[in-house]
Amino acid sequence: MSKQPIGIFDSGVGGTSIWKEIRTLLPNENTIYLADSKNAPYGAKTKNEIIELSIKNTEYLLQKGCKIIVVACNTATTNAISILREKYDVPFIGIEPAIKPAALQTQTKAIGILATKGTLSSALFHETLDLYSNGIKIIEQVGEGIVPLVETGMLNTTTMRSLLKPYLKPMLEANIDYLVLGCTHYPYLIPQLLDLLPKHVKIIDSGAAVAKQTKTILKQYSLLNNDIKKPTNAFYINIKNTEVMQSLLGNRFKVEYLNF
Ligand code: DGL
Repeated sequence: MSKQPIGIFDSGVGGTSIWKEIRTLLPNENTIYLADSKNAPYGAKTKNEIIELSIKNTEYLLQKGCKIIVVACNTATTNAISILREKYDVPFIGIEPAIKPAALQTQTKAIGILATKGTLSSALFHETLDLYSNGIKIIEQVGEGIVPLVETGMLNTTTMRSLLKPYLKPMLEANIDYLVLGCTHYPYLIPQLLDLLPKHVKIIDSGAAVAKQTKTILKQYSLLNNDIKKPTNAFYINIKNTEVMQSLLGNRFKVEYLNF
């Protein structure tokens, strides 16, 4: 069982930012990544739609024999992970906006959170917020329109910068010193965000924490792959344009179209 792959899914190409963290921390592991780009963005969908899509992605990865599933999508995690955990026996790792470290470290007592509508309106997000927001000003912002631009490879463009600027404005007016990236597509925008933010604002995302948690759970279940043979990393996307995902991963890894 330990040689079986880690299954990772996202609404699209963004979760590859999480895959990269997993690969860095767990280089021996075989992985399968599923990008449901045909249905992106998940952020504007209803909770039921997000649950249905998350079940469909999970079933595909389980059919492929995955030993653990990483939900590399904040929107799917905050809306569907409890259902997935109830329904299937494999362990699930999810990702949520890193409110806790930002709230514990802020000096200005103001933090910004950029995430999808689906994440910001979820009960799980509000539970975490209630735990850590005491005495701290939280500026939430829906990143409307960002995911489609990342999906089409429009990272370093004036369109992207014009979209981001008004999202950051109320945060800067509130004097935030931490910006929490609550969507796995957003780490690809860190260079653009750093250009738009004053130097003292730090950006936090949860990618490294997710990789660490994946390792902890694999260890706990005795599922770590100790085989030193070259691991296989498979990437599937359900739109015919594989180029954007390919460019995010570089040429060492092959992205394949799969009709799922
Ligand atoms: N990567 C997904 C997330 O972390 C994007 C959601 C979407 O497709 O809107 O929330």
